[in-house]
Order: sequence, then structure tokens, then C-alpha cells
Amino acid sequence: MDYEYGINTKLVHAGERPSPDTSALAPPIYQTSSFAIDEILPSGIKRGKYVYSRLSNPTLTTLELKMAALEGGDAAVSFASGMGAVSAIMLTLLKCGDHLIADPVLYGSTYELLKKGAPRLGFEVSFVDTSNPENVAEAVKDNTKLVFFETPANPTLKLVDIRKVAAIASEHRVKTIVDNTFLTPYYQKPLELGADIVVHSATKYLNGHGDALGGIVVSSYEEAVTIRKGVLRDMGAVLSPFNAFLILRGLRTLALRMERHAQNATELAAFLKEHEAVKQVLYPGFDQNLESNPNLKKQMAGFGGMLAFKIRGGVDSAVTFLNTLKLCTVAVSLGDTATLIEHPGLMTHAVIPKEDREMLGITDDLIRLSAGLEDVADIKADLKQALDAI
Ligand SMILES: Cc1ncc(COP(=O)(O)O)c(C=O)c1O
Repeated sequence: MDYEYGINTKLVHAGERPSPDTSALAPPIYQTSSFAIDEILPSGIKRGKYVYSRLSNPTLTTLELKMAALEGGDAAVSFASGMGAVSAIMLTLLKCGDHLIADPVLYGSTYELLKKGAPRLGFEVSFVDTSNPENVAEAVKDNTKLVFFETPANPTLKLVDIRKVAAIASEHRVKTIVDNTFLTPYYQKPLELGADIVVHSATKYLNGHGDALGGIVVSSYEEAVTIRKGVLRDMGAVLSPFNAFLILRGLRTLALRMERHAQNATELAAFLKEHEAVKQVLYPGFDQNLESNPNLKKQMAGFGGMLAFKIRGGVDSAVTFLNTLKLCTVAVSLGDTATLIEHPGLMTHAVIPKEDREMLGITDDLIRLSAGLEDVADIKADLKQALDAI
């Protein structure tokens, strides 16, 4: 599809065309493991057709074309989960002895993968605060290949200047990988700011309905081919055609959902700021660095639907608060239609040792909230009654 179309048009149309066999408008779910080979030649099978769904599948291709168009990349590769996609990047672009720079404020499993899994594979990892890009320049070594971060980061919503970090990285021939799960291409396009690869947990906003796991990597053609052959084909964390269909269905309404998520999150952040039981609200729109760093403000077209807050009274108050909620659901995921709320220290980031969590700002009084699509007055009333109870 023509890249000149606006994002709303791309969300609806990119990658999609009526099925050549039936003219069906909705993308067919090609629920098949294998494809019949038309002709076999002495040199092998004829290229250019589907062979086996671990390599590629037409329903997945539709999703991959749409995601490449949305992020402004050449190509995309889909995976069974966000972690499948994150680990595929590491396994493709690093070899034993290579060095990776990562921000330590990451989704808990990504942190664990880099802290424990990567060294077991012979990758060297330096954790630095990438919100100060100079730290990246200082951490680069001769064997550095990648810099990896989330912005806004899970769960503290810390922001990283993508343009600045990518510029420093590229000066040293280091590739920049951005996990864009929280803002999605509707609000942020890291490749346009100089990043080399974007990764998503499609389980979250892209799907948006909390009924499928998935992951996506968007990159250059060359990297997509290497990732597809080296990791997807040979390690096998493949997305199912049905989940690809669900994520495609979710993507068509991403714009409308993101706007409502962001509108509700902005209102909830303002409400929480005023409540006496709340010590601090973390929301990208409130970030102190926005005014002093115009890059940060410009890199996001909106602040998204995620926020976090610190509650007075520590973990006991946090637990009482969560157990008193009636409408908001205590759950680890995010980006669903319903408001989901959680305690990172006890849930999504529990794998990180407590001392490390404290250092990263993932304190025991921290609550993370994914603003849903409900009437904001109802969410507010629920938060209020639970905050009042502590
Ligand atoms: C920012 C971020 N990246 C990656 C992941 C991993 O995604 P998945 O759960 O689909 O494997 C998550 C999951 O919460 C996440 O929040």
C-alpha cells in the first residue's frame, strides 16, 4: 500500500485486499500447517509460494504488511508473543561475545531475559539509564551491537529521547531497538526518529481486546529475512493464523481506541494527582523533561493510556486498595478494553530482585494502571472508593 496514506487509512486498509479466490473482504484465516507444492524441480521447490506455516502464512502476511506500513518499516515478522519477538531480535542480531546496552526499566520478563538469559548465551549486557543519552555513549565498547529500551517504559513511564539515542548509537554503528508497545505507531514511530528496529507485544494495544497473544518485529528487509529464517523458522515461536486474524481485527480500530485510552488516562492522572492518598503520579504528559527537551515532546503524538502512581502507606495500602476495587480489574496485562490495574513489584516485575526494583523506581507503593474504554467517571468513582478505604 502507498505509504502516503494517513495512519487512519493505513489502519483500515494496509496489507488487506480481497481474497484472490473468493473476494472475501475480511482476511481469511488460513488455518493450515502446510501448502501444496505446485511443482518440484531438480533444484528444489519453486520459490515465491507458501510452504509451511512455521515460515509464513497468508493471514500472518496480511498482519505483517499492515504493521510494516504503520511503523514505516520495510518488513515485519510476527511471533507467538511479545517475548517471542524480543528474544528473536537478540538471537538474530547478537552472537556469543557481543555486547548489548539496555535500559534496566523494562517489562519484567525482558529484564530477566537480558539479566540472566543473555549472559548464559555469551552476550554481554550493560544496563544504563538511557533517559540520559550520554550514558549510552559512555557504555559503547568495540563489541557493542545493540541498544534496547522501552519508551514510555514499563512500569514507571520513563521517557527516552529516541532521536538522540539513535543518533549516538548509529555514530558507533550500533543498532537501536525500541519496544513501542505502550504508545503504538498511532502515537509514536521510532523508525522515523532513527531507530533501526521496533518491537511490540501485539497482545496489548494492537490487538486491544485481551483475547490473543502476539508479537511483532518491524525492521529492514534484510533483518526481517534473517529473523524469519534464523529464529522463526528454526526456533519456531510462530503466531497462529487465528491470533493474526484477531490482531488484524483489533488494528482496524486502533486509532479510536488509543484516543479514548489516552483521554481517559489523562483525566485519571489529573484526578489521582489531587487525591490525598496518592504521593506521585507518573504519566508521560506530566514528565518534567518534556519542557526542557523538545525532542521528547515531538516524538509522541499523544501520551497514551498507561499511567502509574505511588500510594501513601506502602505495600499494605497498595494491597488494600487493589483488593477494594470493584470495576477496575487486577490483572497483569494492559491495552485491553477494560481498565486493568496491577502492582508491578508483586506481579509483572516480581522477577526483578527487590533491591534492583527499588533502584529503578519500581517501589512497593507503585501501582500501574491501563486506562480502559469505560466511562471515565465510573473508573474514577471506583478508584476513589478504593483510595478512600486505605
Ligand atoms: C513493554 C512490553 N514488552 C513486551 C512484553 C511481552 O509481551 P507478551 O506478554 O506478549 O510476551 C510486555 C508484556 O507485558 C510488555 O509490557
